[in-house]
Amino acid sequence: MKQTQTPRHNDSIEQCDFTELPPDFVYLNNGTEGSMPNCVISTYKKALKKWASNPTSSYELDPILGKRQKENRKKIAEFMDVQQNNICLTENTTMGLNMVLMGLNFLPGDRIVMTDHEHPAVISPLWILRQRSGVQIEVRSFPEPEQIRQMDSDQLLDYLLPNIPELINAKALCISHVYNTTGVRLPLDKLKRRVDELNISYLIVDGAQALGMLDLRKPENRLENCDFYAGPTHKWMNGPPGTGILYIKNLNLCPPEFYPVLSQKMGSYMSGDNPEACLPMTEALQVRGCSSIPAYAALIELMEFYKKKGDQALVENHIFKLSSDVSTFIESRAPNSLVSPSDTELRSGLITFFPFQWCQPENCFKDKETAEWVVRKLLKMGVQVRFVPFPTVDFSPECQLQRHNPHLPIDCSGEPVEQSYVIRVSTGYFNTLAQVETFKKVLKQVLISLDAN
Ligand SMILES: Cc1ncc(COP(=O)(O)O)c(C=O)c1O
Repeated sequence: MKQTQTPRHNDSIEQCDFTELPPDFVYLNNGTEGSMPNCVISTYKKALKKWASNPTSSYELDPILGKRQKENRKKIAEFMDVQQNNICLTENTTMGLNMVLMGLNFLPGDRIVMTDHEHPAVISPLWILRQRSGVQIEVRSFPEPEQIRQMDSDQLLDYLLPNIPELINAKALCISHVYNTTGVRLPLDKLKRRVDELNISYLIVDGAQALGMLDLRKPENRLENCDFYAGPTHKWMNGPPGTGILYIKNLNLCPPEFYPVLSQKMGSYMSGDNPEACLPMTEALQVRGCSSIPAYAALIELMEFYKKKGDQALVENHIFKLSSDVSTFIESRAPNSLVSPSDTELRSGLITFFPFQWCQPENCFKDKETAEWVVRKLLKMGVQVRFVPFPTVDFSPECQLQRHNPHLPIDCSGEPVEQSYVIRVSTGYFNTLAQVETFKKVLKQVLISLDAN
């Protein structure tokens, strides 16, 4: 196993730009929702006022507020180091993933590979495809956390994506860049190589826990490794609610390979034989009626904000510095309860662990009630984290989707009957080392009172 390197930390990152967060509130849940810097809130307000003063002209003609969003897509694309026509602005990750999974022309019998730790944003459209189109879903199970902690990225990818008939020539792989359950980060360049070796047609990546946390300019994080990448700008990136991006690699993508669902522009692909005359797919998907346009204008301010603060590497280093502090704290007290890996290539800014008894740290708890109790107690003491379950999906033949029935032996909403629950800490851009210290102190108190219960 590789050793963890302490990332370079730049103390010049200022936290005073996020004054809407109360100063005594330790918010460590960027993985659910981010906050917003003040400049973004004021730009959002200005854009709303401009819209309200002249709605039709804003929507039809304004270069920033108009429906095609060319200017804003260009600026976001520059930030992500890709081209304007690779980017469609969406409301969130769920929307982007659904546009992709419902847009691709899957046929009965096509195989789609996923892992058992994917989010409902992937699971739900895959249930639809299985029920409606007869696609086959191949679920690959993650190893147990203690095994992952002994692995490097090659070993984990060998385990998840071996060279076996079930995976070879599959139509798509749906996978996460960073796992919301364990904090495992998968290097996209190695994933791409693996997908090519297995001759899988499309690499579809859920970037919900990665965008805004990671430096997209590093080879292992570059969007070009993926065919499709959906992510939020409302979580780690601290953009307005209801904002996200969908990256599409193939600039010439069109029907029948991919249909623009949730768009008004299918006609663009029916109007003649000249593919050059067609809209880029991202623009077709952008024109879908009125969406969160004032929020997109504020997103541009957000990109400027980060540019002024330094490069993306500084943001990643800051977040990793804080998360490794959390991880070291848990590991030094209760090594068995730590779920997140410490391998340099696999770790991320998201740390998860099982609740444990402070005085008998070998006793850890995997049930929902304990995790819920710890999160509630921490919140009462001014620290917000959350709990999450895993594994998250059961596509076994006996688990046919049907209306939820609590009397059935298996939960046919598609969730496994047995789930473990972890505490999840996401240390974001606006957090400080002092806040992590507070978290550690308060967690210790809560876990001592868990001893007493
Ligand atoms: C891994 C993962 N995918 C997708 C989502 C859904 O994100 P959004 O609210 O941007 O649709 C989440 C939300 O927490 C997530 O953690």
